[in-house]
Amino acid sequence: MSITSGLTPVITRDWATPDLFTLAGYQRTGGYSALRTALASDPASIITLVKDSGLRGRGGAGFPTGLKWSFVPQGGNTPRYLVVNADESEPGACKDIPLMLIDPHLLVEGVLIASHAIRAGHAFIYIRGEVPEAVRRVAGAVREARAAGLIGRNILGSGVDIEVTVHAGAGAYICGEETALLDSLEGYRGQPRLKPPFPAVAGLYAAPTVINNVETLANVPLIVANGVTWFRGFGTEQSPGFKLFAVSGHVTRPGIYEAPFGVTMRELLDYAGGMRRGSRLKFWIPGGCSVPMLTPDHLDVPLTYENLQAVGTMMGTGTPMLFDHTTSVVKAVARWLSFYEHESCGKCTPCREGTAWVADILHGFEQGRGERQQLTLLNDVCSQIAGRSFCALGDAAATPYPAAVHHFPAEFHAATETPVDVTFDPMLTTVFAAAGRR
Ligand SMILES: Cc1cc2nc3c(=O)[nH]c(=O)nc-3n(C[C@H](O)[C@H](O)[C@H](O)COP(=O)(O)O)c2cc1C
Ligand code: SF4
Repeated sequence: MSITSGLTPVITRDWATPDLFTLAGYQRTGGYSALRTALASDPASIITLVKDSGLRGRGGAGFPTGLKWSFVPQGGNTPRYLVVNADESEPGACKDIPLMLIDPHLLVEGVLIASHAIRAGHAFIYIRGEVPEAVRRVAGAVREARAAGLIGRNILGSGVDIEVTVHAGAGAYICGEETALLDSLEGYRGQPRLKPPFPAVAGLYAAPTVINNVETLANVPLIVANGVTWFRGFGTEQSPGFKLFAVSGHVTRPGIYEAPFGVTMRELLDYAGGMRRGSRLKFWIPGGCSVPMLTPDHLDVPLTYENLQAVGTMMGTGTPMLFDHTTSVVKAVARWLSFYEHESCGKCTPCREGTAWVADILHGFEQGRGERQQLTLLNDVCSQIAGRSFCALGDAAATPYPAAVHHFPAEFHAATETPVDVTFDPMLTTVFAAAGRR
């Protein structure tokens, strides 16, 4: 019987330790003992362990991690790389950056174990450049680990060599897409690559490469230390383990709540102190703005990959955003479309042109320039973007409107007749009043 409710601090267990970010603080909590175990093990056996654990990638797509590692061709002297995707930039996503700030050595330990498993001699940690504190923290951890013989040649006398390089991105959401990230890391403009070949075959510098999310890799030392049965004791068969659910929006206590897969949004909302005073939940999004929204009717859906798919949405980054009754759905969707329009890399027409069209029409609704037939046009444009774009940013951009109009048709119909009635959020009204504006 697995745990599927309550809070389960595992990754976050020691987050209250003030010096956890230092090597001494991390080692006091048992840090780097899993690396010793892994270095004494055959790399293939670590891949099998992670495969058996059922760990799924926490970067958004939920791809099985062990399976991804097993695609890397072994043997020969070909260089192989591990690349850490620490570019966290999606609106609503806020879990990888806190993890790197608080517990950077857990990431470094995960990087070293994963590199050993796929026989990579060099790992790159690509961190969102707008957060220099995270870059400094991880670079500091890498420096300390190297000085202690945990990185570099003949790690801890094991005969294994692994180099780690920290790289700061320059602030583009598209560089979180794994192949755009590789281009950016190689010094080119960050734009997605054609797949196949997949990175496991031809990735960084055309060599076999695994790209993993920060939270994914943070799970690895825990699995090595505690085993498959322990890990599968959390969550469900298809969604084993636990998750950093970063809850944000109009809740009383936004924050990271670590819970097993299968917990419900109602429970998480309870931990977050409920909706802020005087407000009612109107809609919510399970993970970043790239997955379809849900309503209060879905509060009891278990947060697993399979259950969320069954109600027409996805886990995404597992960072729920909750919006109260003061929020205009039209306005929220218009804002997200402006984000996608701005972040579209421009490589393919459906996304480059489509995001601009959808954003423009939705902003027209906000300003009272909407027309009823544009609702059909919005559907047409979204269906021309989804599945016809070069990368998943296009699909993500085509997601918010159809879900929003499905759940709140009246609000969109009303917006074609009168300007959106933007009920000012009481907190914003106070801010605007203080600034002498309305
Ligand atoms: C536009 C876009 C942005 C993305 N941003 C991130 C990101 O910041 N971090 C991340 O781990 N994955 C991001 N992804 C997903 C990655 O492409 C990739 O699936 C992920 O890094 C794989 O790691 P995982 O298997 O450990 O989840 C993004 C995808 C797209 C399309
Ligand atoms: S879908 Fe958008 S972000 Fe992706 S390649 Fe096309 S234009 Fe660039």
